[in-house]
Amino acid sequence: MGKDVIIACDFPSAEQTLAFLDRFTGRKPFVKIGMELFYAAGPDIVRQIKARGHKIFLDLKLHDIPNTVRRAMAVLSNLDVDLVNLHAAGTAEMMKAALEGLTRPDGTRPLLIAVTQLTSTNQEALEQELLIEKPIDEVVMSYAENAKKAGLDGVVCSPLEAEKVHARCGESFLTVTPGVRFADGDRGDQKRVMTPEQAKEIGSDYIVVGRPITQAQDPVAAYERCCREFIG
Ligand code: C5P
Repeated sequence: MGKDVIIACDFPSAEQTLAFLDRFTGRKPFVKIGMELFYAAGPDIVRQIKARGHKIFLDLKLHDIPNTVRRAMAVLSNLDVDLVNLHAAGTAEMMKAALEGLTRPDGTRPLLIAVTQLTSTNQEALEQELLIEKPIDEVVMSYAENAKKAGLDGVVCSPLEAEKVHARCGESFLTVTPGVRFADGDRGDQKRVMTPEQAKEIGSDYIVVGRPITQAQDPVAAYERCCREFIG
């Protein structure tokens, strides 16, 4: 899969999500389904969106004992999603089990990426609560390397980290980056942002864009602008 724009469909119900996707009569965007929508609408929403011809990033961030993750990933793989994720903090053993669970009898599987440290975790929380004393960017890079060694396809990271991740883990190791805003747009609650063009320059493989598209007056035009700036 090449570079692409993934729309974060952060809606509370299946109805709202499908009404939003109805607007896209031409090219079918790659969409991200997160915990809110999945827990509200269940696996059926994944099947429905897939049946409409969209690629799907199922952002459920699994983190449990290896056996549970292996079995859960097998269920997600059966939903025929394209990209799923987990927490690298679950250890290499858990990540390898996830890959086993995802792999279908014919050898194919969805891409699997890891969350390293959530961007909501800061150095203070890392030290005081998680008792990890290393600088947070070292922790992020080390978790990315663990994911690579375990056989994963990439990580979710800030666009500001994408270059470093590629330098450490190789150009083919995927970087999927949220925190994207148009140069003339609202930042919302995102603090460290990049434009689609900047994300392209620093080598992000996929950008995850929510509100700049979902809340736009014309979401289809905003999506197309995003694709033009990011993919070219
Ligand atoms: O609306 P916005 O473009 O900020 O949406 C970004 C999406 O990426 C949301 O679904 C958000 O939960 C997700 N995300 C993020 N920052 C991270 C990880 C995920 O914004 N570090």
